[in-house]
Amino acid sequence: MLILFILPTLLLFLAWKKFKQPKPAKSIAGRHIVVTGGSSGIGKSVAVIAAQRGAHVTIIARNVDKLEEALIEIKKYCVNEEQMITKVSVDVANFEDIENNLCEIEEIVGPIYMLVNCAGMAICGRVEDFTKQQVKQLVDVNFLGSFYPVKAIVSKFKQRKEGIIVLTASQVALTGMYGYSVYSACKFALRGFAESLHMEVKNYNISVTLALPPDTDTPGFEIENKTKPVETKLISETGGLVKPEEVAKTLLDDALSGKFFSYVGFESYILTTLCVGMSPFASFLEVITQAVLLGPLRLVSAFYIMSFQNIVKKCHLERENKKED
Ligand SMILES: NC(=O)c1ccc[n+]([C@@H]2O[C@H](COP(=O)([O-])OP(=O)(O)OC[C@H]3O[C@@H](n4cnc5c(N)ncnc54)[C@H](OP(=O)(O)O)[C@@H]3O)[C@@H](O)[C@H]2O)c1
Repeated sequence: MLILFILPTLLLFLAWKKFKQPKPAKSIAGRHIVVTGGSSGIGKSVAVIAAQRGAHVTIIARNVDKLEEALIEIKKYCVNEEQMITKVSVDVANFEDIENNLCEIEEIVGPIYMLVNCAGMAICGRVEDFTKQQVKQLVDVNFLGSFYPVKAIVSKFKQRKEGIIVLTASQVALTGMYGYSVYSACKFALRGFAESLHMEVKNYNISVTLALPPDTDTPGFEIENKTKPVETKLISETGGLVKPEEVAKTLLDDALSGKFFSYVGFESYILTTLCVGMSPFASFLEVITQAVLLGPLRLVSAFYIMSFQNIVKKCHLERENKKED
């Protein structure tokens, strides 16, 4: 039964990819790109690809040693001698610090053309297990840590009538999941922020892209895994693990062609289409494809939800049985 929906969906997805008229992607050669979280994982991969495409790149993170290591690595990918690769050690969740540092770095490297917010982190757990300090840390880095850099730069983008903003959310920005209560709430908040911001800046020739990476093989993901309840681990394992280079390339290409959502792979396409709601669209072809798929995909989503709920139920019963023993 499911195959009846999945097959046409796959065909529509492939047709849409083949026949959509992509907007010509903007070039970043000679432009200044700032990547928060640029010392590790997805952010570092974004910085490497930007260097390969001839951009001036500034990476932002807190740990100075990791920044220095990443800087040396990114410099190897530069394609000309004029390129400036710079690092800034600052906490993105501190508005005054991030604003001052972005001002200083513009004086040294030049006007920022693209801001890629990748700084973020996940801690998993059941609601009752979170400490107040962990909740604050997650909200600070995952929401304020993207809101503040944007707030610091958006007036300049508006004055210059150009700019590209990327916010890195997650698939759990579209659907909640066992163990992700705080992280998922922060990433949902980024979606609301991205949709509002998109409407505010569109007439200034500024684009906003919301990246929705699936599980990605990064140092951050390794740390996150250590905090996952067994239910979260089992549900996560039903999806695959992608490389940060793949997420970074897709994120850059989508942002440079002005797409609102950036996702990797067929499963992410299904989830994004299901949750498209009132989000901005790039073309009417995209809207028509989504309108056709939404109904049948709701049935597919019911299958996924039931299988996730089964995992949670099984774990619950096992726990209860252990208690009785
Ligand atoms: N990996 C995944 O499976 C996955 C999936 C979906 C979404 N994401 C999202 O993608 C983004 C990147 O994830 P990742 O897995 O590549 O993480 P990662 O490897 O842990 O890298 C995180 C980067 O952010 C920096 N950072 C963290 N807190 C910061 C702060 N307060 N101020 C400044 N910099 C800070 C880190 O450096 P310092 O610690 O030195 O500051 C590091 O450079 C995150 O927003 C994450 O939520 C990841």
